[in-house]
Amino acid sequence: MSALSERPVNPVVGRSVPHESASQHVTGTALYTDDLTVSTHGVLHAWPVQAPHAHARITSLRPEPAYDVPGVVRVLTADDVPGTNDAGTKADEPLFPPEVMHHGHAVCWVLGETLEAARLGAEAVEVDYEPLPSTLSLTEAIATESFQGSRPTIVRGDAESALATAAHRFSGEFEFAGQEHFYLETQAALAKVDEGGQVFVQSSTQHPSETQEIIAHVLGLHNHAVTVQSLRMGGGFGGKEAQANGPAAVAALGAVLTGRPVRVRYTRTQDLTMTGKRHGFHATWDIGFDEDGRIVGLDATLTADGGWSLDLSEPVLARALCHIDNAYFIPDARIHGRIAQTHKQSNTAFRGFGGPQGALVMEDILGRCAPLLGIEPGELRRRNFYAPGQSTPYGMPVRHAERLEALWQQALDSSDHAERTARVAEFNASHRFTKRAIAMTPVKFGISFNLTAFNQAGALVHVYKDGSVLINHGGTEMGQGLHTKMRQVAATALGVNLEDVRLAPTRTDKVPNTSATAASTGADLNGGAVKNACEQIRGNMAEVAARQFNCHPEDVRFSGSRVTALGVGDAELTFAELAHKAYFQRVPLFAAGYFRTPGLHWDAKTFQGEPFRYFAYGVAVSEVEVDGFDGAYRFLRTDIVHDVGDSLSPLVDVGQVEGGYVQGVGWLTQEELVWDQSDSDRRGRLATQAASTYKLPSFSEMPEELNVHFLERAEETGVVYGSKAVGEPPLLLAFAVREALREAVAAFGPGGREVRLASPATPEAVYWAIEAARAPGDDVDGVPGSPATAGVHHGADANGAETNGAETNGAATRSDTSRPGATPVPVAGA
Ligand code: MTE
Ligand code: MOS
Repeated sequence: MSALSERPVNPVVGRSVPHESASQHVTGTALYTDDLTVSTHGVLHAWPVQAPHAHARITSLRPEPAYDVPGVVRVLTADDVPGTNDAGTKADEPLFPPEVMHHGHAVCWVLGETLEAARLGAEAVEVDYEPLPSTLSLTEAIATESFQGSRPTIVRGDAESALATAAHRFSGEFEFAGQEHFYLETQAALAKVDEGGQVFVQSSTQHPSETQEIIAHVLGLHNHAVTVQSLRMGGGFGGKEAQANGPAAVAALGAVLTGRPVRVRYTRTQDLTMTGKRHGFHATWDIGFDEDGRIVGLDATLTADGGWSLDLSEPVLARALCHIDNAYFIPDARIHGRIAQTHKQSNTAFRGFGGPQGALVMEDILGRCAPLLGIEPGELRRRNFYAPGQSTPYGMPVRHAERLEALWQQALDSSDHAERTARVAEFNASHRFTKRAIAMTPVKFGISFNLTAFNQAGALVHVYKDGSVLINHGGTEMGQGLHTKMRQVAATALGVNLEDVRLAPTRTDKVPNTSATAASTGADLNGGAVKNACEQIRGNMAEVAARQFNCHPEDVRFSGSRVTALGVGDAELTFAELAHKAYFQRVPLFAAGYFRTPGLHWDAKTFQGEPFRYFAYGVAVSEVEVDGFDGAYRFLRTDIVHDVGDSLSPLVDVGQVEGGYVQGVGWLTQEELVWDQSDSDRRGRLATQAASTYKLPSFSEMPEELNVHFLERAEETGVVYGSKAVGEPPLLLAFAVREALREAVAAFGPGGREVRLASPATPEAVYWAIEAARAPGDDVDGVPGSPATAGVHHGADANGAETNGAETNGAATRSDTSRPGATPVPVAGA
């Protein structure tokens, strides 16, 4: 078998082909889970009863009145569960909860002949609640020590003494918000039971095997009695990695109890008020630099807002801890993590899976400290890049670290950085009320699941007698183009044309025990498995061809659906002819493929090891313009240079880079989740529960100019056809926009000061940051003693470590998310 990364001559991978379903997407003919409802006879519709409290005990639940509503067929409650009443993997997520844990929590479900009947039935169900005290914000949770799950720490060297002797030392806090997935297709499932009691569930899930297992344990069945199919998703972004399980279990339970197909599809409001989001985080940090601005030590504590249950919070936290270094070498580090329990939706996977949160903390630190160190922020970043031979705080060597420098230089050149920086300076000198800035940030993102066991995949490939090929693999399609890439991989491995390869929907009865399509590993893992299956078949077919050609099987060549051999003149068979011959010689034309990522190890107790196969790298350069009157901004231009290895499918990858970047910009700038924090009876209610109140990025938030380049000659050995994962890392490129906003804000003031920027950096937040940057004196936002003036170099020798409390802490002690609304400033322009 050839090495995993080696490409044959004339490969189908590497070609720019449209997404495999592109024409169906744009003509509206692509089917999504809920579209199957119309063609399913006798479907029942489900509607949840959602609790109006953030936290409450359910003292009684009376479903009877619902049955008086015409069309109501069944009310599903905890008493109906034949197996285990839990839809999670941590035994902390009752499907029908005895206690309400967040505003909008579904306490029971009503099935009706129509959606309207189910809705009216749900209104008729009587529930008595005994309200209990609730914790909503991270600050409240930290103050009351409301934590859940493990509390890991990464330790390397001795951060404490490194900080004590650092030439410059700063500390601060930073609290930043999460993000709503807002996939266009809401959570959906459609369940049926056949005459043998076999449960079949169509589910919009990123993790069919887990959905299958959870349905089985809710129903008290073995896994073989449940099949889950995921046709395609209208976006997942991590939000369907775990949170598709609940609705699928409700549908399956309903189908088993009524014998009729049951459909669950959340309305947008239900989706927003019931499902978890990206974790917001709180961070405290203490960092030391040497005289040249090199990081010498970091002590940080990250607290993730887990919401009401654990869900994926532990692995999300693990990835955050493993990405706080972003692209920078931290010789001595102590990085501690914990998960707050709050009475909100259970936060979950979201593109980057904690990685963006960890790295954001570091980018915020560098953005804030650069003016205090008197070093240009880009230069400060570059100076701290990993160098070849160095390793992460969790003990993993940073292979290809030199790519950071290469990407940085390529980004400087391709973005005309020097010339445009000069133009920005001219612009700012001549504009008092509008300022521009260009910022650059790097990304380093580890690829593989932290949990080693998840790094395996399977595939099932069939070659039919006519030479046509059907592939099944364990990964799911959510728009990211995985199926497109898998067709290209199969066509390359079998040496056939792309049109000869079809892909069948992902099903648990075709490929079992699959991992979630997540952590950007879909193509790496399933591609490895597809390739492995194809190579088995090709090996079998080569024997048949060798007999035909009178040559050695190793000399048989497969390319472009034709089969030839070295040194036998122009003897040739079509792939179809060879398949036909193989069948009649009783040679198998199908195979199960398997792949496991080699060389991984991770100690979840000590948080040390080599959890990643490799790192994906990227650099973004962003220019923004900020209006000093109202904090409004425009994104002028972004240049990205990203490392996708040798791309399997360049058009798909460009789409992933652009989409990831824009989604990151949304998270960091305009998307703002608001929960009612008052003590009224609306406490805990999500206030942003529609597209009208939750601002998603749209065309107007695209930079006026967006250039995406890939790092060239970037083959990644040890990965299928030399490619690299691309799904999540580009989201972190959006840091450049946030840092550009920070620098533009700084340009309104005298400079040399720390600029604190809330996240999301909404126009309102930017406005307040400008007010602070302009404020006279050295008082950043009303904190007396803030050393906001230029060149505050806190030499440990001069001040001693203890002065760090009074002075350097002042630089950054206050939480960034507290809207500095306390600053009494009149409306700008007034
Ligand atoms: N791209 C689209 N269009 N839609 C999605 O839902 N999800 C992202 C990313 N890109 C997503 C997407 C996330 S969170 C992940 S982990 C990867 O795709 C998963 O797919 P992959 O492993 O095949 O890259
Ligand atoms: Mo992606 S957050 O790993 O589904």
